[in-house]
Amino acid sequence: MSLQAWPWARVLAHRGGGTLAPENTLAGLCVGLEHGFHAVEFDVMLAGDEVPLLVHDERLGRTVAGTELVSELAAATLMAREAGAWHSPRFAGERVPAFEAVLGWCRASGVWPNIEIKPATGHEARTGELVARATARAYAECVHPGGDRAGRIVPEVPLLSSFSKAALVAARAAAPDIPRGFLMDRVPPDWREQLAEVGAVALHTNHRHLDAALAARIKAAGYWLFCYTVNEPARAREVLAWGVDAFCTDRIDLIGPRFAD
Ligand code: G3P
Ligand code: MG
Repeated sequence: MSLQAWPWARVLAHRGGGTLAPENTLAGLCVGLEHGFHAVEFDVMLAGDEVPLLVHDERLGRTVAGTELVSELAAATLMAREAGAWHSPRFAGERVPAFEAVLGWCRASGVWPNIEIKPATGHEARTGELVARATARAYAECVHPGGDRAGRIVPEVPLLSSFSKAALVAARAAAPDIPRGFLMDRVPPDWREQLAEVGAVALHTNHRHLDAALAARIKAAGYWLFCYTVNEPARAREVLAWGVDAFCTDRIDLIGPRFAD
């Protein structure tokens, strides 16, 4: 794999607007954009009727009203649930957005997405497949044969990522030319084999478990390296100095979109 320079923005707003707005909502994406972020990470899960939505947790309750599993409810039911009041009163009435609508918003607003495929347990492959397909449809003219290879990626094309190998394998089968990053909380000893198995161009990892030597090995192997979730400017400077290509942050008020320039 020939390693071109990371073609995308280097600082991403995590879950839309980081801590400043309810995660995985349109209001959050708008707050990110208001802070100058034209690059964003968000999470996508399938509702019970297989419609992809922006949701992080398998079970409702933390940010979206309810106690059910996401996989038990139809998209229309989920999309009617309160998703902003938990954050602050000014976001009360915010709803769970549909993934396809968010892709339309991203395209219209010039916001590049790192789409985290976040499958509910037991739905890994189907989530990877449907999220990849919807992405390929929305970005049809940006997706080129061989575009999942680091040497041939155009800056418009989204980056899919997941902790789930099954989701990434299915995404690859459904839309082979959309690039993939493999999310790994701790980088395992067999990371090279795992990245190769899903045809990943990037390794996405928790910065807390990364050090300079490991970062150097990953970069030397020809992969891009992405960190989540970096919320302190001093730490952000440190991981960038190790060769980390990009990271997402919750503190979009402290770490601006041009922090890594
Ligand atoms: O994609 C990076 C990061 O979002 C992964 O963890 O739990 O915040 O989705 P989580
Ligand atoms: Mg995420």
